[in-house]
Amino acid sequence: MEKLIIEGGRPLHGVVRISGAKNAALPLMAATILTPGRHILRNMPDLRDTRTFVRLLENLGAKSERTGDTLILDTTHLLHTEAPYELVKTMRASVLVLGPLLARFGRAKVSLPGGCAIGARPINLHIMGLERLGVTCRLEGGYVDAAIDGPMRGNVIYFDNPSVTGTENLLMAAVLAEGTTVLKNAAREPEIGNLVDMLNGMGASIEGRDTDKLTIHGCSRLKSADCSIIPDRIEAGTYLIAIAATGGSGTVTNCTPAHLPSLLEKLRGAGLMIAETDTTIHISWPETVGEKPVIGNVDIKTMPYPGYPTDLQAQFMALMALSSDTCVINETIFENRFMHVAELHRMGAKIKIDGHFAVVSGRGLHGLSGAPVMATDLRASSSLVIAGLAASGRTEISRIYHLERGYENLIEKLTGLGAKVWKEQE
Ligand code: EPU
Repeated sequence: MEKLIIEGGRPLHGVVRISGAKNAALPLMAATILTPGRHILRNMPDLRDTRTFVRLLENLGAKSERTGDTLILDTTHLLHTEAPYELVKTMRASVLVLGPLLARFGRAKVSLPGGCAIGARPINLHIMGLERLGVTCRLEGGYVDAAIDGPMRGNVIYFDNPSVTGTENLLMAAVLAEGTTVLKNAAREPEIGNLVDMLNGMGASIEGRDTDKLTIHGCSRLKSADCSIIPDRIEAGTYLIAIAATGGSGTVTNCTPAHLPSLLEKLRGAGLMIAETDTTIHISWPETVGEKPVIGNVDIKTMPYPGYPTDLQAQFMALMALSSDTCVINETIFENRFMHVAELHRMGAKIKIDGHFAVVSGRGLHGLSGAPVMATDLRASSSLVIAGLAASGRTEISRIYHLERGYENLIEKLTGLGAKVWKEQE
């Protein structure tokens, strides 16, 4: 295993280019199952998770070809309809093959993903929705064994919780159903809009993009896709927070500022200056003569989009650990998403957890010191990277394979911003 070493305390400055979004790439890859053909996916990030998804598709019989950031998936000759435990356990988003396999073949056997470090993460809403479309789902031996004779039948599906992958799975299932399906209280994350655009480009008829009511008029056939993955809003947010936490300034490019409404407001609230164009965000501290920036304290509450994203909660907590006062962070999406707190304590952070709340008493800019810490999940790991970049001295983060799941060229991008960061064998 490898660890990440950071010599911290250096303000980040410069320009960083954002990659395609992991959480858009995965459903778009799943959607290529829907119809035989050569599908072109552009701006595809090269990540551990996207590689795992390619293996999952190849396991079903697909062929893949990558040139630069373009991935071509040929799903003409799919031979299997099963997603095995060995692949699903390493990446729970594998459950996204359930809807499209059922739509094309009328059957699918997908391992139940099980829990993960951040919570129980059930898929009951995916199953409820498929059953509303006429699918019979049996849970046996750790697998969902789902089947239907003939096409699915459109219906109204209401989500108790606006589940992101649940909405995506049902969208993909419903595009080839007979009649009209309405998804109510659907998730509105931009990654879902990307999937809607891809499906409509393939000949589907979906109305209500970016709203919580999606109406899908089923069709009998689709054509191959040629679609571009949207920029990764979570990667962009992570770099913005890292630049802020080190007292630096910089520009993230190839991003969509409109996809980060809540984070940009929170950063402004913390005292930062933000300047946006359609595809770039410049972040800087107001000019101070001879004085260090003071990070203001801002409360956050994670919410479904357009609320503050749970995937940027851990990173913002690292920033608040360096603020001038106390703030409250309320995690409402996942029940166990404070795993980074114990590790941040090792770097000198003062944070108390009470159920879904974390009370962060800021130590001031440069108030943390480097330490050996352990990565526990993808976003928790990126908060440790931010803390390590801001802290004085050396931070060693073990188990960095978590980071490789979701951050393309992390070391190169941070080095380009002036960070001293490298990998070593543990
Ligand atoms: N939920 C249910 N039943 C379900 C599905 C979800 O109760 O059948 C609950 C969950 O327990 C949670 C809430 O609904 O409390 C929202 O979960 P959601 O289903 O939206 O999460 P997800 O689709 O499994 C995606 C992202 C996550 C991100 C969440 C929330 C992908 C591949 N994953 O997960 O991304 O945190 O939405 O925005 O899109 C990450 O990238 O690090 C990551 C974990």
